[in-house]
Amino acid sequence: MQSNCYPKLDCVKSSSINQNKMTTNQLHVALIMDGNGRWASTRGHPRHHGHKRGVETVQKIIKGAPDLGIDMLTLYAFSSDNWKRPPKEVSALMSLMQRYIRSSVASFVKNDVRLVVIGRRDRLPGKFAQEIEHAQNVTAHAKRLTVRVALDYSARDQLINAAHELQNPTRSAISKYLSGTGQICDVDLLIRTGAEQRLSDFLLWECAYAELYFAKCLWPDFGVENLKEALKEYQARNRRFGGLPEPKRALVAQASVSSQP
Ligand code: FPP
Repeated sequence: MQSNCYPKLDCVKSSSINQNKMTTNQLHVALIMDGNGRWASTRGHPRHHGHKRGVETVQKIIKGAPDLGIDMLTLYAFSSDNWKRPPKEVSALMSLMQRYIRSSVASFVKNDVRLVVIGRRDRLPGKFAQEIEHAQNVTAHAKRLTVRVALDYSARDQLINAAHELQNPTRSAISKYLSGTGQICDVDLLIRTGAEQRLSDFLLWECAYAELYFAKCLWPDFGVENLKEALKEYQARNRRFGGLPEPKRALVAQASVSSQP
């Protein structure tokens, strides 16, 4: 018997093997974690309190993701446009993330979680870039879950870099270049919290065939139950990748799972 009430994910994964998606059956969920500032302001707190609560949500989601069948999570932590925010907020965010990465390495190793950071490194403060490198190296062989943190990240800038650097820019070469790890990281499900409905320069290439899910709740209020809800809706969608509708394999598989003793 499964340890959670979420039996259909395996077959969702198998139905997503597709030439357009260019991946194996890994389930990749990307998250735009919006609403920290509003969460704090409505409580009369400074915005960085919202970001602090946001980190707690990140911890819960990372802990719960593998049991929901998620293999890869990409979290939008800081966009290259976020440098426009007041220096105090930028510096609070940088120290929060630096502390989070530093203090999470041991538990990532213990729980078989790989950390990958995408985006620019050259503008990060102090020794942050070296600490990221260290965290990536010590978790490099972890298999249970890959957590990608997008930091000083701009999808458009990454595509410009790819255009400059790739001699033979095929779909596969661009995907591998963008992932930074040689893996292809097409997104299956993109979730944005905070009641906004836009992509904000996040994974524009990788989301070519992503299913989009917009949650009204603010990121600090988002939890594993909300993630389950999003996955449930994702499962009910029929991914066609430009082709014709597939038979609802998920429903068939669910029936067989629920009829097991
Ligand atoms: C957007 O909310 C959120 C951010 C710009 C920062 C997200 C960062 C975290 C959740 C913490 C660190 C993450 C990791 C991976 C350790 P907003 O501040 O724009 O919210 P608002 O729309 O309510 O103003």
